[in-house]
Amino acid sequence: MSTILITGGTVVNATGTAQADVLVDGEAIAAVLAPGSQLLGVDLARTVDRVIDASGRLVIPGGIDAHTHMELPFGGTNASDTFETGTRAAAWGGTTSIIDFAVQRYGERVEDGLAAWHAKAAGNCAVDYGFHQIIGGVDEFSLKAMDSLIDEGITSFKLFMAYPGVFYSDDAQILKAMQKSAETGLLTMMHAENGPAIDVLAEQLYSAGKTGPYWHGIARAWQLEEEATHRAIMIADVTGAPLYVVHVSAQQAVAQIAAARDRGRNVFGETCPQYLYLSLEDQLGARSEEWGDFEGAKWVCSTPLRSRAEGHQDAMWQGLRTNDLQMVSTDHCPFCMKEQKELGRGDFRAIPNGIGSIEHRMDLLYQGVVTGRLTPPRWVEITSTTPARMFGLYGRKGVLQPGADADIVIYDPNGHTSIGVGEGRSHHMAMDHSAWEGFEVDGHVDQVLSRGAVIVDERGYHGAKGHGRFLKRDLSQYLI
Ligand code: URP
Ligand code: ZN
Ligand code: ZN
Ligand code: ZN
Repeated sequence: MSTILITGGTVVNATGTAQADVLVDGEAIAAVLAPGSQLLGVDLARTVDRVIDASGRLVIPGGIDAHTHMELPFGGTNASDTFETGTRAAAWGGTTSIIDFAVQRYGERVEDGLAAWHAKAAGNCAVDYGFHQIIGGVDEFSLKAMDSLIDEGITSFKLFMAYPGVFYSDDAQILKAMQKSAETGLLTMMHAENGPAIDVLAEQLYSAGKTGPYWHGIARAWQLEEEATHRAIMIADVTGAPLYVVHVSAQQAVAQIAAARDRGRNVFGETCPQYLYLSLEDQLGARSEEWGDFEGAKWVCSTPLRSRAEGHQDAMWQGLRTNDLQMVSTDHCPFCMKEQKELGRGDFRAIPNGIGSIEHRMDLLYQGVVTGRLTPPRWVEITSTTPARMFGLYGRKGVLQPGADADIVIYDPNGHTSIGVGEGRSHHMAMDHSAWEGFEVDGHVDQVLSRGAVIVDERGYHGAKGHGRFLKRDLSQYLI
């Protein structure tokens, strides 16, 4: 067990900032101290195994990415990051916990889906990991199996109003699963888009010869996100279930969430970096020499990137300011262009849906601080503290305080990060391109500790496959 003293930094928690030193003993934080690091008259800097000088830097709780899809079988292929490569990329970017989605499909047993996910992740992760459970087939067996999830440390499950024939649940199934949520305390997570209507529009566009990636964004109209969000809120209301809407991208969906919250409902919203920065016009409609108008396939994800002219991106930032949106996850679901996204050349409906961002979430959201949209504590809150509270990890994760796991990021606000696969840029995800190529951002992840082990520093990556442990989560502490 080694001891580390992080001196001279500005400690940022969701509650505020302070000049303080952080003492790490083994895997946990032992103390957060006034600068100078004397404890009972002992000069700590002389007695610890290692001193990390964090002068001029921010010391923050490690990021928690509560929405990832490592190795997800989807769209006729598998998401290209394994738990090994994806959690390593997370570490590089200052994310020290992930919550991935175990998958149950129609006709499969929930227990088998969960066991398969444990088998993929166990012994492979660089940082700690937990699971939500996708219920892709709501029936009497899966509803019964949900009773055991909490004992397994899985305290949230995801339903899909999109993707008919894949993960889709109809309203009757949603109602039944939400009744289970209300009865058990499991948090319902919802992919809120009207899938059957989207599929009709997509078929009509395709038949009219509109086959490129841009049309993915047109078929998945914001009205069908707003409508599904409203429907999910109303079914949750009838059942008394708490509701967490994932990957919100339409400003009208934010308005639905805000209205429900104003009525006192336990309704929450997550957005993702892509919906804060990227757009239908600039990305889905992009052309390049290499890929022609298929370039936009890099950004095919659902919910889709939305029109900047309509103002959705600004509305997401605004939602984070007003707490109508509570947190930011990535929905990390990477696919390479070659052989994966290419499956949908000539038919946008067959492009595997997903973007890889796990490495860049902390940096991209830090730009909210740079531009004055977020305070440093709010940055920490939406990327670490709220995910911890929302998903039953708070105290262990999401805060720098005695007894918490020593998951710590030393962040240089005056540093700089060049993102992308190009020469001299940062990219550690298993993808042949970056959705963020050429982004030049202020701030830099200097050091990363995961349960007391320094896994990233100025000399590079020192993490180990298998260091990451499974997180048995408690019920959400965010619900009232
Ligand atoms: O495009 C996306 N979001 N892919 C991952 C699956 C999902 O719906 O979250
Ligand atoms: Zn989804
Ligand atoms: Zn997802
Ligand atoms: Zn630096």
